[in-house]
Amino acid sequence: MNPVQTYEITILPGTSRDGEPEGFDRIVIHPGDTLSIVGPTGSGKSAFINDIEVLAQDDTATGRSILVNGEEPPEDLVRDPAKKPIALITQSTRVIADLTVAHFLALHIRARGNGAQSLIARTIALANRFTGEKIAESMRMTGLSGGQTRALLIADAILIGQTPILLLDEIENAGINKERVISCLRKYKKAVIFVTHDPFLALITDRRIVMKNGAVAGVLRPGDRERAIIGTVSGMDAFLWDLREKIRSGELVSNPAGAPAAQKKAGIPA
Ligand SMILES: Nc1ncnc2c1ncn2[C@@H]1O[C@H](COP(=O)(O)OP(=O)(O)O)[C@@H](O)[C@H]1O
Ligand SMILES: [Mg+2]
Repeated sequence: MNPVQTYEITILPGTSRDGEPEGFDRIVIHPGDTLSIVGPTGSGKSAFINDIEVLAQDDTATGRSILVNGEEPPEDLVRDPAKKPIALITQSTRVIADLTVAHFLALHIRARGNGAQSLIARTIALANRFTGEKIAESMRMTGLSGGQTRALLIADAILIGQTPILLLDEIENAGINKERVISCLRKYKKAVIFVTHDPFLALITDRRIVMKNGAVAGVLRPGDRERAIIGTVSGMDAFLWDLREKIRSGELVSNPAGAPAAQKKAGIPA
């Protein structure tokens, strides 16, 4: 069994694309923290989370450095994928190995050395809470849709990898129930960073990092100021999710006032 360690990640500033120093002292991320990264295309959002993923030490284009528990990370944490406390999932993340879902998860369970084969069924059940297109053990990894793949990899990172830090790069249009993903990540005390153009994800995170010209231009802590709008956006989101599922299953949709009902059905407090 892997010891479940807690990790604190510190991001030290680098330079913008023009070589100007970034205007922050340090950004510290604790277990259970939720952050989003916003900014126009090309502003450096992916570069920012890639720095975290590779545990940059002033050796990437941005010049940032990442500390783990306040110190330069030890070599094995950087090199050994089984020890890496970070999982990065992007729009284009695909598993190309020609394996069934059960076989893929079994291999990961073995690599992590955390035994319990019952984790296979639990992981698939969790993934199926995140996606409306049900995943079965016998499906082939290469046959999964983008949404199914991301749902499975998030569930896998939570339950099998027990990864303390998740980085999700623009997964919003990907057939994922974001509300359930967020509440699950909070329940398991994961730190998570979303690169996102999605207002709901941007609103629901505790901190919002604003990128401009390759640099962090600001870190917003909306606190109570945006709380009132979150409920509304969450209702819209749940409504759209429900609508998508109905249309997918061939139903005619007729209830334009269904947002509150959908919200209730999704188990979201109004
Ligand atoms: N601080 C920086 N210094 C130099 N190059 C950068 C910096 N930040 C980002 N880049 C480069 O700029 C390009 C666009 O950045 P990217 O992170 O892909 O933007 P986004 O994800 O916001 O669309 C990439 O080639 C990236 O390597
Ligand atoms: Mg990007």
